[in-house]
Amino acid sequence: MNVRKMRSDDVPMLRCIEQSVLTGRGRLDFSPPREVFVLESEGTIVGYVAMHVMVPEAEILDISVRRQKQGNGLGKTLMKNVVAHCRQRGVETIHLETAAGDDHALAFFRSMGFSTIRRRQGYYEDAGDALAMALDIGGEP
Ligand SMILES: CC(C)(COP(=O)(O)OP(=O)(O)OC[C@H]1O[C@@H](n2cnc3c(N)ncnc32)[C@H](O)[C@@H]1OP(=O)(O)O)[C@@H](O)C(=O)NCCC(=O)NCCS
Repeated sequence: MNVRKMRSDDVPMLRCIEQSVLTGRGRLDFSPPREVFVLESEGTIVGYVAMHVMVPEAEILDISVRRQKQGNGLGKTLMKNVVAHCRQRGVETIHLETAAGDDHALAFFRSMGFSTIRRRQGYYEDAGDALAMALDIGGEP
């Protein structure tokens, strides 16, 4: 298992994963200043995380694991690497928004230590609510 920065020739594979999770959020912009990290397993990209780092804060724009590979700890591996990267850069708080009705994603983020900060009503195009979540990583080893 290996986490590395995205290369431009990774985009087709990232689009493939994006489609496999079918979140209905549309196509994500993978270009700078967004930072994208990919998780490789046996030479294949199985997940990615896209984020925007604005020290001392960072925002996770998307984290996705190929549908067939979910539930095997890959999301956790990716997130731990992102947290370590953020800490090295001097980030103190990581933010994200996720659909309030997505129990799976909420369980995942809570398991990684994220707390709900507020509810954003009608945040998504389909008028669904979002939950703003945050993880404080400042001051930890
Ligand atoms: C959310 C996502 C990134 C999690 O990745 P994953 O590889 O499936 O998650 P992991 O196997 O690493 O699970 C880590 C923890 O999350 C929680 N979790 C994961 N799947 C869960 C489920 N179906 N139900 C409840 N908890 C779950 C568990 O606490 C788990 O820890 P444990 O296995 O030690 O109990 C992945 O499922 C995904 O790509 N989903 C679609 C895209 C998405 O919704 N992204 C988030 C919004 S940006």
